Amino acid sequence: MAYVRRVFAEEIAAHFAVEDGVLVPAVAGKDADLDRIVDEIESEHADMTALVARLSDPALDEAAIDAALDRLGHMLEGHVRREERDYYQRIQEVLDAPSLQRQLDRFDRHLVHQMYLENEVLFRRALATLVEHQTT
Ligand SMILES: [Fe+2]
Ligand SMILES: [Fe+2]
Repeated sequence: MAYVRRVFAEEIAAHFAVEDGVLVPAVAGKDADLDRIVDEIESEHADMTALVARLSDPALDEAAIDAALDRLGHMLEGHVRREERDYYQRIQEVLDAPSLQRQLDRFDRHLVHQMYLENEVLFRRALATLVEHQTT
């Protein structure tokens, strides 16, 4: 499970960190809708981070790990779709163009979101393979 945690830390947690650390300060307090969405987004980030932390429990058997990875995959997929549909959409409506561009230029969300959405199954399979490899 060390491998999964590392993949998560490098790919996903970094993405969460930029969203929470760069976007949230840029949009906070500008719009009630956006503030509500931000709360939900942040709580989903926390839930997924906690789920990954639980994956490191050595007492988990293969079925439990599979189930947790599956759940993580579903959570990520729903999360990313929601961000694309509600969050980034609303950010574009609320922030003025130059300020928006400055924030969005600071990271490429598409890279990570596409990885989740287009390669979600592959991504999950890769994680599962890594887990198998790690535990055999
Ligand atoms: Fe996110
Ligand atoms: Fe995201």
